[in-house]
Amino acid sequence: MGHQDARVIEELCRQARTLCSFAPKFSQKPRAVLGKLLAEIAPGDLSRSFLSLGGAESVEAAIKICHQYTGRRKILSRYPAYHGATAAAMSLSSGDPRSWAQESSGVQRVPVPSPYCYRCPFAQTYPECNLQCAEYVDRVIEMEGGGEHVAGIILEPVTGANGIIVPPMGYMVRLREICDRWGILMIVDEVMTGFGRTGRWFSVDHWGVVPDIMCLAKGITSGYVPLGATIVRTPIGDHFKNHYFSHGATYMAHALSCATAVRVIQLYQEENLIERSARMGEHLLAGARRLQKRHSCIGDVRGLGLFVGLELVKNRATKEPIVPLNGLIRSGSNPKRQVAERLLDLGMIAMSANPSNIIAMAPALTVTEAEIEEGLRIMDTALEVADRYVVE
Ligand SMILES: Cc1ncc(COP(=O)(O)O)c(C=O)c1O
Repeated sequence: MGHQDARVIEELCRQARTLCSFAPKFSQKPRAVLGKLLAEIAPGDLSRSFLSLGGAESVEAAIKICHQYTGRRKILSRYPAYHGATAAAMSLSSGDPRSWAQESSGVQRVPVPSPYCYRCPFAQTYPECNLQCAEYVDRVIEMEGGGEHVAGIILEPVTGANGIIVPPMGYMVRLREICDRWGILMIVDEVMTGFGRTGRWFSVDHWGVVPDIMCLAKGITSGYVPLGATIVRTPIGDHFKNHYFSHGATYMAHALSCATAVRVIQLYQEENLIERSARMGEHLLAGARRLQKRHSCIGDVRGLGLFVGLELVKNRATKEPIVPLNGLIRSGSNPKRQVAERLLDLGMIAMSANPSNIIAMAPALTVTEAEIEEGLRIMDTALEVADRYVVE
């Protein structure tokens, strides 16, 4: 919604005057209305939500639902990924350097590769590859004991901080088939991609895939107040009507957060901001491709909706990353950080503090064409810093 939208702030204040918070075991109106609204906009029969305080908490709830519903422990997660900073969510953040200090938290993590076509882990090219990356997941599940031992797979359908990796056509559908074949749960982490970021309500909507569990945060309140949601399909929700769900928190479904989320979702709807994200996203992606023609440091441009990334390399032919993976978490100067600093000097914040060679652009869904052009001009200037590190 952009910063300081008066309508969002007014609703937050109205709720504060009515009821700030209530004992967590009881319902209150904003909580009930939000639960209903989420069920309406979520794909398929995703219909029951556990409301928490943010992205990592929404993932923790998903992991516990997955374990308690299936009675199994192993969870596949993809290289590279970020699912949050709490112990279990961080353990599942395979290949993200931030997870190196948090190896095990009792979650039996099984890492699998992502559909990262620019650096295909199988050195193949789409579509001749026949989606080897998905077929490999099938093989790993079999080798890990199939549906008797594997509980689920967690994934960001469009990987965010770790590289804006958009899956090729057919990948998500094939992954859904593989989960069904083994009877394991598909958990999608839409903390970044939810609520229109990619030009649909949820990124899975691009491929018509209904996950078993969906994790949400960030855009749910447009960041105005903390909130996370873990939505499950009806059979999983029904299961917990007569099986104790061992989870909870004092601030779950906080009234101030729920009321704000309801207003924000209404505004997304009233102002057609989801469709707008798709339209403006095309504009941004086209601009990013123009930048690639001008800057030899840009190896690849990827994106969906208002979620566009530039992958920086030292050499386009060898694709050598501009900063090695372990260099990305070390303090001190590096080419990517220098681009970020130059951007700040020029008055723009891009998503650059992430553990990948991606500089990502993810403006508010209210962004105008003129603002996109201005941002692209600033990016154009800042990238000159990285061009100096190109070795051809
Ligand atoms: C994909 C993804 N999942 C989970 C999280 C964790 O969210 P939070 O920081 O709200 O705990 C993030 C945070 O950036 C994220 O990008």
